[in-house]
Amino acid sequence: MQIVSDIQQNYSISCLVSSCSVMLTLLVSLSLVYGLDGADVVLSCSLIEEGGGMGGMMGGAMFKRTPATLVFRDFVGNEGLSPELVTPYNPPETPNPEDLIFELMLPSIQIPNADLLLHADCNEQEVVCEISRYVPRGADMDSLPAHFIGSIQLEGGGISLTLVLQTLHSETTQSDAQPLMQSKLNLPLSQSATLLTEVVFVVFSRVPSIVASIGGDVMLDCGFRQKESVPGQDVALEWRLQHRGNGRKILDMKAREMETEIGSDVFVDRENTSAEADLLVRDGNASLTLRTLQVSDEGTYICTVGSGDFQTQQIVQLHITQPPRITLSEEKLSFPNRTPQRLSCHCNRYYPLDVQVEWFSQAPSSEESISLSKDSSLSSHRQHSDGTFSVSSHLTLLPDKHPPGTVVTCRVSHPSLETPTNATLTVEEPEPDTAFWTISLMLLISVVFLYQALKGGVF
Ligand SMILES: *[C@@H]1O[C@H](CO)[C@@H](O)[C@H](O)[C@H]1NC(C)=O
Ligand SMILES: *[C@@H]1O[C@H](CO)[C@@H](O)[C@H](O)[C@H]1NC(C)=O
Ligand SMILES: *[C@@H]1O[C@H](CO)[C@@H](O)[C@H](O)[C@H]1NC(C)=O
Repeated sequence: MQIVSDIQQNYSISCLVSSCSVMLTLLVSLSLVYGLDGADVVLSCSLIEEGGGMGGMMGGAMFKRTPATLVFRDFVGNEGLSPELVTPYNPPETPNPEDLIFELMLPSIQIPNADLLLHADCNEQEVVCEISRYVPRGADMDSLPAHFIGSIQLEGGGISLTLVLQTLHSETTQSDAQPLMQSKLNLPLSQSATLLTEVVFVVFSRVPSIVASIGGDVMLDCGFRQKESVPGQDVALEWRLQHRGNGRKILDMKAREMETEIGSDVFVDRENTSAEADLLVRDGNASLTLRTLQVSDEGTYICTVGSGDFQTQQIVQLHITQPPRITLSEEKLSFPNRTPQRLSCHCNRYYPLDVQVEWFSQAPSSEESISLSKDSSLSSHRQHSDGTFSVSSHLTLLPDKHPPGTVVTCRVSHPSLETPTNATLTVEEPEPDTAFWTISLMLLISVVFLYQALKGGVF
């Protein structure tokens, strides 16, 4: 594909300059030639191959990583981009058969929210991009066209894509010139020394990580698109849950478009779980709905979609959280007879386990909070049958250090709470009457006793 065109305009992205740590290099072109604002997205990737050299040991399997570049051509409608933010992708001036540049065409596939990739660089979001060989059903490693899987994840969420790439050979058929071959893959290169490919299948998730609370409902986002679908062809969807080394199939669905309706076979291994066969076949919507969530629903969900010769997966993480219910052991606090008092802060039925309990005291007429955490002790965690936890923190308060009017705060931090939650108590005057009357009574008894003794003529 010839990119250089005199109608194209060159601009540079201003936010690129500073973000050298970011793996993504983003270049955008205005394809005014077609009257469309298409964007080129350039990603730094790695080609992952099994059986690398000695340096590539990873958990027993050997993998070799080779730097590669992935160029999306005319990516998505980029209405949101102002012209001063864009520049076209220019291939290297001297084609090098060792370069690995995958040039991607997205002929009819529209990936929702894929424009997030365009903004990732400016948002300083890292992009993880890996490419590996792929063998479709009924093909073998050497058959042409060749296939690759491209896996792209935006760090910190946003979107995650798994693309099946199929090589194109349009430009290489000129009889006069032997095409340049990519030295590693032994595949013909285009005139600009790129591997021309087409996206033929994609499975994506726009919410690859989601947090939900116990008892609530959640939809795990997964979808697919394919270049061409054959009417009546089965679409197979499987959702698996992996958690702490265990795997379990949650849902298995085969659906197909019949003359007037959608036919489907469904197996579900969790109550209150569903996926929509209609949406799967008509919209490529493979989302899974889980209702009445429990702690045991937490884990890594794998959405696998198969259609025709292609099948690939997407991962969605489900995190369960439940905020602690925070209570103090006492409603009122005073120091009758100036005895030290024990105060407990209970955090009940929360999830996950990490919780931080801190204590503070603020003297009356003082702006400053003093930490008391070093004087406190934490009970061991208790786990309830529903998987939630409870814990208590205990603190002993001394009357000298906490005069009436002192505000004592138990502050609890937990991932389910946006800001730490406080439970507070103000130290009250000890019941003055009790102390007064006790002393008075003692005095009175002493006086009476002394009088009786004197009167009785003891002395
Ligand atoms: C699937 O459908 C649901 C309900 O209409 C919608 O909220 C969700 O965004 C869709 N997801 C995808 C991937 O299309
Ligand atoms: C399924 O949902 C119903 C209604 O919301 C609820 O009563 C029931 O307990 C749920 N089943 C399970 C196993 O959570
Ligand atoms: C909670 O207490 C701490 C310490 O006294 C204080 O700094 C913080 O502002 C309080 N937060 C709220 C929300 O009241």
